[in-house]
Amino acid sequence: MIRTDPEAPDRYLTPVEDVFVRNHLGPHPRLDPATWTLTVEGLVERPLRLDFPSLQGLPQTRFTAVHECFGNPLRPDVPTRAVTNLEWAGVPLAAVLELAGPRPEARHVWLEGADRGDFAGESGVSYLKDLPLDQAGAEVVLAHTMNGEPLRPDHGYPVRAVAPLMFGTNSVKWLTRIVLAAERPDHLFTTRLYTRVLPGESEASPVREKDVSSKLLTPRDGRSVPAGVCELAGYAWSSTEVTAVEVAVDDADWQPAELDRRGPHPSWQRFRLRCELAPGPHRVRCRATDSAGRVQPLTGDRNAVHEIAVVAE
Ligand code: MTE
Repeated sequence: MIRTDPEAPDRYLTPVEDVFVRNHLGPHPRLDPATWTLTVEGLVERPLRLDFPSLQGLPQTRFTAVHECFGNPLRPDVPTRAVTNLEWAGVPLAAVLELAGPRPEARHVWLEGADRGDFAGESGVSYLKDLPLDQAGAEVVLAHTMNGEPLRPDHGYPVRAVAPLMFGTNSVKWLTRIVLAAERPDHLFTTRLYTRVLPGESEASPVREKDVSSKLLTPRDGRSVPAGVCELAGYAWSSTEVTAVEVAVDDADWQPAELDRRGPHPSWQRFRLRCELAPGPHRVRCRATDSAGRVQPLTGDRNAVHEIAVVAE
């Protein structure tokens, strides 16, 4: 079940009811925290089966992060902006890995959800993702809370992985199994879908770190605004800090917008620019640059510059 993007309001934290839902394998599985367990197996000294109270007994962390869908894995050239900013709480994966004790040969962490179904011509497939062990241990959180409330069933209840710097595809919902392995898994969602050739590279790599991107949220696309001075604003994000956002009205030059710093968490950053809009229709575009020097392309990519149409009256 793929639901279309809800129009997220122009707020720092996106309300849970406005968060997009991406379920590849049909309706969400119905998991009961009273019987839910998470197994940790493979190349570990102490294989584990944790229940929900044991997970909650481990150290907890809370952070804000951008949650963004990569878009259609078969069409990375189509601009897409299903994006939200959420506060998560849960247990760092590192705490669970410490209990299990990875063996020296372990290099990769496989994360598997409880959902099973048919997708892209394969039947009875599970939702499985993998990350390098070092990176997963440093970044991934096993989250049970979204914006201060228990995860809703569609968002992975009772526990999902959250990889805060990466595209949402890596944040496995309804998490029930973790495997430590020497190799990457050959699987529909790891090696066959969600791979891409990055600029300057010749081989495809897994879809992981977020691209640099931005979205105009005020005014809303297609709306009328009073002619005269108008505030153009929205959010910019990347896997690193965004260092500049420029805004262009019609065919005028790009102008630097005022931009908030990112802060300690990988959340999105507000940008704003006041400008004069003459009566009539206008197109407004925004373009972000990040600290890695990446700039949003003008066209032809999933993170191409965002454009809205407004009418000044
Ligand atoms: N996890 C499972 N188990 N099954 C899924 O279909 N979809 C992934 C990811 N985790 C998915 C999953 C994708 S593609 C995205 S973008 C995010 O979940 C979406 O998370 P959300 O539905 O909570 O917004």
